Amino acid sequence: MKSLLPLLLVLLALPAWSASVPAPVGTGGAVASADPLATAVGLDILRAGGNAVDAAVATALALAVVYPEAGNLGGGGFAVLRIKGELAALDFRETAPAGARRDMYLDAAGKPLENASLVGPLAAGVPGSPAGLYELHRRYGKLPWARVVSPAQRLAAQGFRVSRHLYDTLSNEENRKLLLRFPETRGRWLPAGQPPAVGSLLRQPELAATLGRYAARGPEAITTGAAAAAVEKASREHGGVLTAADLAAYRPAWRTPLTFAAFGWKLASMPLPSSGGVILGQTLGILEKREWGKLPRFGADRDHLLAEALRRSFADRFLLGDPATTRATEAQLLAPEWIARRAEQIDPQHATPSAQVEPWPGAARTETPAAGGETTHLSVVDRDGNLVALTTTLNGLFGCGLWVQGAGFFLNNEMDDFATAPGKPNLFGLIQGEANAVAPGKRMLSSMAPVILWKGQEAYALGGRGGSRIPTHTLQVLLNLLVDGDSLQAALDRPRLHHQWLPDRLDVEPDALSPETRAELERRGHTVQISQVTAKVHAVHRLPDGRVEAASDPRGSGVGGVVDPE
Ligand code: DON
Repeated sequence: MKSLLPLLLVLLALPAWSASVPAPVGTGGAVASADPLATAVGLDILRAGGNAVDAAVATALALAVVYPEAGNLGGGGFAVLRIKGELAALDFRETAPAGARRDMYLDAAGKPLENASLVGPLAAGVPGSPAGLYELHRRYGKLPWARVVSPAQRLAAQGFRVSRHLYDTLSNEENRKLLLRFPETRGRWLPAGQPPAVGSLLRQPELAATLGRYAARGPEAITTGAAAAAVEKASREHGGVLTAADLAAYRPAWRTPLTFAAFGWKLASMPLPSSGGVILGQTLGILEKREWGKLPRFGADRDHLLAEALRRSFADRFLLGDPATTRATEAQLLAPEWIARRAEQIDPQHATPSAQVEPWPGAARTETPAAGGETTHLSVVDRDGNLVALTTTLNGLFGCGLWVQGAGFFLNNEMDDFATAPGKPNLFGLIQGEANAVAPGKRMLSSMAPVILWKGQEAYALGGRGGSRIPTHTLQVLLNLLVDGDSLQAALDRPRLHHQWLPDRLDVEPDALSPETRAELERRGHTVQISQVTAKVHAVHRLPDGRVEAASDPRGSGVGGVVDPE
C-alpha cells in the first residue's frame, strides 16, 4: 500500500475550515435571506401559490420591517430575474436629488466635509425601493399586490420578537452613536437610550400605516402625499436637500441584464449603474483564460491569480458610473480581446503593484456620454424554476441614521457611493473616477452583484451584501460551485479573500490561508492583511432533477428555507 503521508501533509496544510449544517432540500421552492422571519414570509407566499417574484417582493418588504439596518423603503437596489425563460434586470437604485451639486460635500476650500455624505439626510439619495418593488410585481407577479404586501404590514402592525441580531446591531457602539444623533430615530429605536430587549414584541405603527397605504395604492402612497411630505420635512430640518418632488419624480428602469459565459455556465448579472456584473464577468473571464480550474485548489497559485485578476477588474471600475456618464461600457470592458490582454499581463510569480495597473486605455476623456454599508440580498426559486436575485441597500447600517417620523422608515446614505471628492475613498475604500461625480438625477455607481446562472435544467440565484466585497466574495462562491463542485452550503462557508486595486492590499479572512501560503504570497509581493470584513451571500439552487435548496452565509443572521422539504 502506498504511503498516505503525502496526502496527510496536504490535508494538514489546508486552511482550517468546517462546514455548517447542509442546506435544506425541497420540491416547492426555496428562499434565502438575511432574516428567518423574512425567509418565512417568502416561503408562505410560495405556499400560497405565489411565484418567485411575489416571494422576493414580500421577503424584501418583510426585511424592511424586521431587518431595519438594511431592509428598506428608504433605499434602493437591483433585481435580476429569470422568469418563464425570460431574463430581466430592474434598476431601482437611488438617484441624486434635484438639489444635489457636484461640490455638495466639499467646504469652501474644496476639502471634504467630514461625514457629510454618510450621516444625516444630505447623504440620502432619492429612494427607489417603493416604486421598484411595485414595478417588479406589476410586471411579473402573480398574486394580488395587497396579498404580497400584507405579511410585512402584519409584522409591522402586530409586532415581531426582537432577535439577538437586531438587539446587538442596535447596541453596537458605532450604530448607537449614529442613531442617537436624531431625536426621531432615538425615540423609535433607542427609547431611554436602550434598544428593545431580545424577545420583546416590537411594533412599528407608523411603518404599518405606510405599508397599509402602499398595499392599497401602490408607490404613490409613499412618493406623494403625507409620507413624502414627512420625508421632505425631516430632510429639511436636518440639513438635507431631498424633497417630495424628488420622490414623486423617481422612476425605476428595466435594463438589459449583463450576460456572459464561464466554466460551462451562462450567467446574468446587473449592468450599470452597478459595477458588480462587470467585475464578475471580467474576473471570471481572466481566470478561465489562465486555466484556474487546473491549478491546485489550495495554495498560493490560485490566491495569487485571483488577487491579480481582481486588481485589474477593480482598476477598470474607476471608469464606471451612471450609464449616461460612464467612460467605458460593459461591452468594452468584457470584450474578449481586453480580457485576453488583462490575462496575459499577469505575472504568475510576482504581484503587479496597483500603481502600475492602469484602467482600460480606451476610455472616453470628456463628459460626453459613452456609447451606448448596509445592504441585504435575497434569492428565490419557485417550483417552476423561476429565479430572482435581489439586492437592496441603505448603504451604511441604518443608512444616514435618520428615521422619518410619519413615514416609519430610514433614509439611505447612498450618496457616499458617488466620488464625493476627487481621490477620496468611499465607505468601502473605493477610489472612484470622474464618471461617478455627483450630479442631479444621476445614479451613483454600485458594487452590488445579484446573479443568476444556469446550465441545462440546473440553476442558481445568489448575491450578497458587503460593499466592494460583494463581487469578490460572490465570485468565490461561484468558483467553489462551478469549478470545484462544492455543495451549496460548503460553497458559502469557505473562507474568502479580497482585492480591490486600491488600497494595494490582499484582505483575507482569518482561516483563508495556511501560514505557508501566506508566506508565499508575501514572497510574490502581496501585502496580506487579516480582515473580518466580509460579504454575506445568500443563495438558492435548482438541481437538475427540479428539486431546490437554499443556503445563507454562516457569517450572517440569515437562513435558507424550502417549501415541501424532503
Ligand atoms: O451599492 C453599493 O455598492 C453599496 N452601497 C453597498 C453597501 C453594502 O453592501 C453595505 N453592506 N455591508
